[in-house]
Amino acid sequence: MIKEFKRILVTAALPYANGYLHLGHLAGAYLPADIYARYQRLKKREVLFLCGSDEHGVAITVSAEKEKITPQAIIDRYHPANKSVFEAFEMSFDNYSRTSLPLHYKTTTEFFTEFHKNGIVLEKKEQQLFCEKDSLFLADRYVEGTCPNCKSTQARGDQCENCGTWINQVDLIDPKCKLCGSTPVIRETLHWYFPLGKYQKRLQEYIKNADERDGWKENVLRYCEGWFKDGLQDRAVTRDLTWGVPVPVKGFEHKVIYVWFDAVLGYISSGREWAAGKGTPDAWKKYWLDPETKYVPFIGKDNIVFHCIVFPAMLMAWNDSGKEQYILPANVPANEFLNFEGQKFSKSRGWGIDVQDFLKFFPADTIRYALAVNLPEKSDSDFYLKDFQARVNNELADIVGNFINRTIAFTEKNFEGKVPSPGTLNLLDAEMISKIKKIPGMVGLSYEQYRFRDGLMETMNLARSANKYFNDSEPWKTKKSNPEQCAATLYVSLQVVRTLAILLAPVIPFTADKIWKLLKMDSVLYQDGWDSAADILLEPGHILDRPEILIQKIEDKRIEEIIKFLEDGSEKTPKPEAAPIKPVITIDDFSKLDLRIAKVLQAEKVPKSEKLLKLRVELGSEQRQILAGIAKKYEPEDLIGKSVVIVANLQPAKLMGQESQGMILAASDANGDMKLIEPNGEMPAGSIVK
Ligand code: MF3
Ligand code: ZN
Repeated sequence: MIKEFKRILVTAALPYANGYLHLGHLAGAYLPADIYARYQRLKKREVLFLCGSDEHGVAITVSAEKEKITPQAIIDRYHPANKSVFEAFEMSFDNYSRTSLPLHYKTTTEFFTEFHKNGIVLEKKEQQLFCEKDSLFLADRYVEGTCPNCKSTQARGDQCENCGTWINQVDLIDPKCKLCGSTPVIRETLHWYFPLGKYQKRLQEYIKNADERDGWKENVLRYCEGWFKDGLQDRAVTRDLTWGVPVPVKGFEHKVIYVWFDAVLGYISSGREWAAGKGTPDAWKKYWLDPETKYVPFIGKDNIVFHCIVFPAMLMAWNDSGKEQYILPANVPANEFLNFEGQKFSKSRGWGIDVQDFLKFFPADTIRYALAVNLPEKSDSDFYLKDFQARVNNELADIVGNFINRTIAFTEKNFEGKVPSPGTLNLLDAEMISKIKKIPGMVGLSYEQYRFRDGLMETMNLARSANKYFNDSEPWKTKKSNPEQCAATLYVSLQVVRTLAILLAPVIPFTADKIWKLLKMDSVLYQDGWDSAADILLEPGHILDRPEILIQKIEDKRIEEIIKFLEDGSEKTPKPEAAPIKPVITIDDFSKLDLRIAKVLQAEKVPKSEKLLKLRVELGSEQRQILAGIAKKYEPEDLIGKSVVIVANLQPAKLMGQESQGMILAASDANGDMKLIEPNGEMPAGSIVK
């Protein structure tokens, strides 16, 4: 028996803000989480659904290095992109946060400080390679050398690419710093370790109890058993990196907290941000701290150890301090992986499809449906475009869409668009009504048990039997031969339409809303709630909307187009190329520049030049003439009165025969787009920029 909870806290794994989301991500964690959250809301439970971007760790710094831009630039690109893709995919997050926020630094620092104060984290010495030139410990992949095993010269500090062995970086032959090429030395470095081993017994107990109460998935239990069998080891929770939350211990400020330690706490920060945003800063507590709340984190299988072992152990350690008492996950319904056209999604090989690209071709609900019927719940599953098309056309359109459309159309044609009065019901009608009463409970039970495929299958079975019921009842015949029977058929069919709208709402919310509108319900679907799907609530005489096509079939042409798009990599979402960062300069170098705010007094085109504008600017103490290559982007009259930033001590130069006494600052990207740098707010001309 499932325990009744007042409240449900749902989280979905925080995606790294270092790449775009693909269909595999959706099937692994996000879609099941959203179906669950939407279902629970329909059950009228209080639901808080949290997510956000994971913005620390080597995943981000590696991407930054590859593109030769800062980690900040990486996360500032992918966080907003992923956030809006989630919106387009109709994810119903209550909050989508990011781990680079000060609020999150605060949460993480609080936890670490408490663990340090209470002697939970332990300091340990380890040997690592250190570059004296860069004054840097070379965390795993920042060092290269010869593999002690196969003698390949391309081995990295953590692993040899050639033979695959794991390498203890101090064993590398002839190691070189990847940043400057010099030979590093061995130095001892100190790190803080979280003693997972100490929590093993309690963790095993916790998982056993939670499993008894909520029925954990076999695959998840097996993973955990594996970890327990090997025995949990102390885990380093700090790193010699600069990108991340600084370690809040004296002498360790230049190190950062290990990304996984901060990421899982990101769930809590996201709840705090949500509460603060609503103007009720304590509202997160009734979710995170109340044993009446059921907490369910949705993840993919590669995250199991962090959610079933590391995060619960951290929460236990915090709870031991006697401060706030956090609830632990009641269940961790991790999914396996989704393959795309028979192969694993792979960012490095460019295999797969980004969600934003997919959404350019097909509506979100069609993707949600096709993924939901095929979620990798028990084992890896496959996504094929041909399958996708077949599912949408033969199931969503032909079964759901067709039944709803024929029911509404028939009612419009024969009953003036009003729900008819049923009269007496025959055996077929009664059977159909008993399905309306039974199926919502069955689907609900599947969803409670994280069997989303089963729940959707039951829902589709209802639609299938409704089509059969309509066929067998032959209302187009009874219309003349037995009008009362015809009315009964349509009365019952319309009730099924209403039930289907509710049952489909967690999976295809946009379409469900459309169905609800067709029925011209006064209430909001969510107000009626899940349990009302089993009720017969459409009253005779109620007026319906005009029929409308609910689901467009996918034509072969469209599938061909997306295949072409996939093959032609260049058409994919452009990932702007960034120019490499120039060599380091000192603050003294920088202070040689005299940057000033200047006001544009006059602007005119330079004859015979397409690019140049001639400006007269005011610098407070003096006026200058400046030639700027901005004529393609700016009209002279747009510039007059604008404040700009100029280099005031640049050696004067002649351009097109005219003197230029300075330079105007502008930002430009790799696509040739360009914008002048303007002060954000009024600053008097002559103000120094530094
Ligand atoms: N960013 C991780 C990944 O994509 C998941 C982090 S889940 C969290 O695999 F709990 F740590 F946030
Ligand atoms: Zn170096």
